[in-house]
Amino acid sequence: MSASIRYLLPPGDMPSAWYNVLPRLSTPLAPPLNPATGQPAGPADLLPIFPEGLVMQEMCPDPWVDIPGPVLDIYRTYRPSPLVRAIRLEEALETPAHIYYKYEGVSAAGSHKPNTAIAQAYVNKQEGVRRLATETGAGQWGSALAHACAMFGLECTVYMVRVSYNQKPYRRSFMQVFGAAVHSSPSTVTEIGRKVLADDPDTPGSLGIAISEALEDTVKHEDCKYSLGSVLNHVLLHQTIIGLEAKQQLEKLGEQPDVVIGCHGGGSNFAGIALPFVDDKLAGRTVRLLAVEPTACPTLTRGPYAYDFGDLGQMTPLLKMHTLGHSFVPAGIHAGGLRYHGAAPICSKLLADGMIEAKAYPQVPVFDAAVQFARAEGLVPAPESAHAIRAVVDEALEAKELGEERVILFNLSGHGMFDLGAYDAYFAGELVDYDLPAEALDRALKCLPAVGG
Ligand SMILES: Cc1ncc(COP(=O)(O)O)c(C=O)c1O
Repeated sequence: MSASIRYLLPPGDMPSAWYNVLPRLSTPLAPPLNPATGQPAGPADLLPIFPEGLVMQEMCPDPWVDIPGPVLDIYRTYRPSPLVRAIRLEEALETPAHIYYKYEGVSAAGSHKPNTAIAQAYVNKQEGVRRLATETGAGQWGSALAHACAMFGLECTVYMVRVSYNQKPYRRSFMQVFGAAVHSSPSTVTEIGRKVLADDPDTPGSLGIAISEALEDTVKHEDCKYSLGSVLNHVLLHQTIIGLEAKQQLEKLGEQPDVVIGCHGGGSNFAGIALPFVDDKLAGRTVRLLAVEPTACPTLTRGPYAYDFGDLGQMTPLLKMHTLGHSFVPAGIHAGGLRYHGAAPICSKLLADGMIEAKAYPQVPVFDAAVQFARAEGLVPAPESAHAIRAVVDEALEAKELGEERVILFNLSGHGMFDLGAYDAYFAGELVDYDLPAEALDRALKCLPAVGG
């Protein structure tokens, strides 16, 4: 077996602007709606929870947004991230496909999440905010924000979905190292948390619940703003540095991807690797953009494209997105970061426009692929990232069957060193596949608000 070839960009080549897909969409994105009036939500609706700089980015019409210097300085501690040709995996699969992965596990938090956490903490600090409140599923986002807040001298409060809080005690410790206060969600420190606990004391929690808790905390405290780790336009914008770097790195190798793959929770990871390739599609080049999600939380593959709340407590504006219904509580699968009822409005629209594709996998074949990848490439992937790997392996095997030299690019969004409990469960044969029953989906969709088209 050969060793994998690492192709690293010299630091000077790091992009200095983020890629904004908004002005490139076929038609404008359906606006967020104020749930009380049913009218488009403007900056005034968002300013109580987000700083102005991020609200402006959320609605930005410019095709490129400059990355502020202090953000670039912290990016440089781990960017450009490596692009790796997975030659040993190619050999193990005996495929003619070329498999490349962008590795985001090199950041302090071990995932892609710092790309936006650093940018968000910076803007909040500039505007005099003292504390940020947020939710976290797998603990990756909370870790990233805790670290970013420490970098800019902000306080940080994290509501961590209960199932992950219990499965991943060391993620909690990591956040505490950086000074964050971490609550198991639903918690007893918010009204919504207490209500959910009273209704269902054994709930595994969900991102929808944790978001409500963080929002309640924000609106009740003047010097606090809310920070979201996915879904929103500005978050996706910040993550495009991944795809921009990958494009430059591949160009230097004389390669162009035929398919770009990312796992999809709220959508920022997938968008990060895939959005910069929208320009290639618009220029007429054939490149497939494939989002991968769990069958236990099949937002893109089975959820309707409709207006819905981003949280259980109905505190967010209504977003037009693929959704399983804001009251949906996914099964406690091990890819905690993929357990969200909604999808980014940008990804949802691109799917509706036929610009991207989506596919869902159950967790056991996902872990099969994760272990195969780890044994070939020497890196333990996060369970979320392993969803992308499953799809990569299937693409590579299909290319083998067809005798095609397909070029596959995917984002290895994080390492799995805090997720070894999930691997334990896999090796003990305790992981179960979960397909969301149609009745459960119908039930969850009953809560969709009757607004918007
Ligand atoms: C390692 C990893 N990859 C991917 C995701 C999904 O991210 P997104 O919500 O950006 O789709 C997460 C979410 O926490 C994650 O931790």
